[in-house]
Amino acid sequence: SHLRHVESMRISPSGAGRIPELKAVILGESLASEENDLVFPSDEFCKQALVSSPEKYLEMYKWSIEDPAGFWSGIASEFYWEKKWGQQVYSENLDVSKGTINIEWFKGGLTNICYNCLDANIKSGNGDKIALYWEGNEPDVDGSLTYKQLLERVCQLANFLKDKGVKKGDTVIIYLPMIMELPITMLACARIGAVHSVVFAGYSAESLHQRVVDCKPKIVITCNAVTRGTKIIDLKNIVDAALLESSQNGISVDLCLTFENKSAMKKEDTKWQKGRDLWWQDVVPTYPTTCDVEWVDAEDPLFLLYTSGSTGKPKGVLHTTGGYMIYTATTFKYAFDYKDSDIYWCTADCGWITGHSYVTYGPLLNGATVVVYEGVPNYPDSGRCWEIVDKYKVTIFYTAPTLVRSLMRDGNEYVTRYSRKSLRVLGSVGEPINPSAWRWFYNVVGDSRCPISDTWWQTETGGFMIAPLPGAWPQKPGSATFPFFGVQPVIVDEKGNEIDGECSGYLCVKSSWPGAFRTLYGDHERYETTYFKAFPGYYFSGDGCSRDKDGYHWLTGRVDDVINVSGHRIGTAEVESALVSHPQCAEAAVVGVEHEVKGQGIYAFVTLVEGVPYSEDLRKSLVLVVRNQIGAFAAPDRIHWAPSLPKTRSGKIMRRILRKIASRQLDELGDISTLADPSVVDQLISLADS
Ligand code: WT7
Repeated sequence: SHLRHVESMRISPSGAGRIPELKAVILGESLASEENDLVFPSDEFCKQALVSSPEKYLEMYKWSIEDPAGFWSGIASEFYWEKKWGQQVYSENLDVSKGTINIEWFKGGLTNICYNCLDANIKSGNGDKIALYWEGNEPDVDGSLTYKQLLERVCQLANFLKDKGVKKGDTVIIYLPMIMELPITMLACARIGAVHSVVFAGYSAESLHQRVVDCKPKIVITCNAVTRGTKIIDLKNIVDAALLESSQNGISVDLCLTFENKSAMKKEDTKWQKGRDLWWQDVVPTYPTTCDVEWVDAEDPLFLLYTSGSTGKPKGVLHTTGGYMIYTATTFKYAFDYKDSDIYWCTADCGWITGHSYVTYGPLLNGATVVVYEGVPNYPDSGRCWEIVDKYKVTIFYTAPTLVRSLMRDGNEYVTRYSRKSLRVLGSVGEPINPSAWRWFYNVVGDSRCPISDTWWQTETGGFMIAPLPGAWPQKPGSATFPFFGVQPVIVDEKGNEIDGECSGYLCVKSSWPGAFRTLYGDHERYETTYFKAFPGYYFSGDGCSRDKDGYHWLTGRVDDVINVSGHRIGTAEVESALVSHPQCAEAAVVGVEHEVKGQGIYAFVTLVEGVPYSEDLRKSLVLVVRNQIGAFAAPDRIHWAPSLPKTRSGKIMRRILRKIASRQLDELGDISTLADPSVVDQLISLADS
């Protein structure tokens, strides 16, 4: 009988998505192959779900595709607008041959995302509801803020910023760990129309400096230190080094607001630059707890977030206000089947897009209660996540496959020790989740009771693009399933032709969606080249994807020179340029290799300067140079000595061959005859284990 199901899911290739028509609901029966492995939500879950069947989804999806203006303006009307948008809900050009790439949503409308996150929820009676629970690194250190209290904190900081001359359109760099001041600062910037650029507080001084030089912030907001697990990280020192370097390069920042994170480091131990540095606690609390909102156009920038691309220079992804607001709120609501009674915890850091859209904005726009956790998932031990779930009665838990795999390795006892009864929806993001990790997450963490929302999206997309609505879909472990409302994913071949039915190719998106990024800061040309020139008329994601006979989408990873390490996006070129900055490194080529926990590991082929001998110390110092230039998360897992690199006659490094050597698939090297010197390959292989 399940075969009949699958049969009835055969999809018509026409227009809006390929949607299975499912009638029955059976729990967790598996068929022979992975593709046919369907896991159904329970009747109970479906009954209470916002979207409770494929048919309901299809109805909404069709509407969203056939009438995007009507669909999205209907949703947008539920938010507060000081002035309604103009006649056109959206306008777009995604085709370079027709002129500049341009995407606008709700243009002419005046709103404020901070107002919609806080004031609007307070007005509708949620003022005393907890907005943020904060769990410190140590299990007995915690705190919370209601919506009213959060607004007061945000207003004090907003007033401080205004007083220091930060105006609408000015940039503020935020270099903070996961303490409540991080979302507070984001919201304070948004309130006054300043553009925040959060830099993940695991980035090095060098990376921070690069970002300072690129976006020239009026002020940098940081804290003295943070404890993660047993490690104390002196963040202020890193900021000092970054700002010193920036000022030597002609970009000086006059103000560095520093929050005193007492549990990590004492004030007295913090290095201080008089005249530039101010302690948050000394100044911010002296400001009034109310602050007028700066109404901004829907298309005014909300934030910049730097991400990695296939060249060394990070890209400043720019998101604007209105469309991003509507999109993050709506995707959060539906992909997690959000209800007012939910307690939501996303383990991502606000330094990444996940923390922007699904720690701060999406949840708060919905009036949700959000858990913010400062520490690491395995401190004091591998049960910490479930301890937190039980402590706050978390109902929606959103994390990354790498965390699932590492906890899976540590054993079930850490999980089963805790009740986890409160959980009802699980989420995954960052990379494809392999079916065995999916099953463990589903069966062990979720007690085979909680649907998993495997959300495919990117820094650039602002919010979820392909994700199951948990009550609507039977899931297939490892598939992100179907597009969100308003999203038209297409799979194209090398030549850019759309391919249909069962197929695999490059994942693109046809037409815009409200959460799409609008440009790369200061480099609209790079925006057009990177994302819109490869396959004219479409947004190109950089990912490979296949679609099975039932229309489910299976992401297969990046097809460009970007690797995904523990859900962190790293450009191979960035790592290479860090390596070659080492005086003894002549050349480097970096590829991703499969890694049991991280998804992908960083594998670096390094050619040393003539005459320099290989040594363990040198290996260490090469790894260190990457840690210092980018951050610990980008440290190579493996350095492979390479007397020379495989290059074509025109001097292009053949990464395809390096990938095969790195993964020891030596019988799959393919044609090496186009190499300038094919003997390089044997040489490399002979050094593989040295
Ligand atoms: C890249 C984007 C968006 C939040 C975190 C990462 C990969 C992300 C999935 C998923 C398969 C995924 C893609 C994408 N990715 N989520 N559910 N299934 N792959 O954001 O740093 O912008 O990286 O992460 O390769 O292109 P990001």
